[in-house]
Amino acid sequence: MLGAMTIRKIAQIGHPVLRQEARALSEAELALPETQRLIDDLIETMRDANGAGLAAIQIFEPVRLCAIEVRDNPRYPYKPKIPLTVLVNPRIEALSDETFLNYEGCLSVPNLRGRVRRFAHVRVQAWNRDGSPFERVVRGISAGTFQHEVDHLDGRIFIDRVEDPRTFSTWENFERHHQADFVAYVKEIVARHGE
Ligand code: NI
Repeated sequence: MLGAMTIRKIAQIGHPVLRQEARALSEAELALPETQRLIDDLIETMRDANGAGLAAIQIFEPVRLCAIEVRDNPRYPYKPKIPLTVLVNPRIEALSDETFLNYEGCLSVPNLRGRVRRFAHVRVQAWNRDGSPFERVVRGISAGTFQHEVDHLDGRIFIDRVEDPRTFSTWENFERHHQADFVAYVKEIVARHGE
């Protein structure tokens, strides 16, 4: 498999694939070499684009599969770290009514960020890439990242959830005018939720 990874093209907003409902993967399909190769490509493409996550639907494969990873990321210098996580057929359940306003961007939406309400405390259930069960409770900013990726599998993009369109901002204007306030808000969220 080494050397076989391919950086794929990322679908941009307006492409109908992003509005599809992705279909579930069976265990047998997940075990196929082409599905495992798709997972390798998804990870490689996410890393190449400095994404915090990427859903298979964003690389034109409408199956319920996404990858999440936050290392030192120039796109999101304030984000808490998340080790590489591959979710197959994920489900998310809110564990409380508490929400927060996350500032999000997306590799399928060029140069735009906006504020989106997310649950602060969720349980994520899925399969790992080998088909074994995955279950994790995720809080705060990281919970927002998981909700963003799972939304893609239902054909939803973060802009659909922006409550106040006045929060839309280019990345440059986000850094110049909004990042400092948002980072202070993020620190409060992180202190409250530990993530
Ligand atoms: Ni996205």
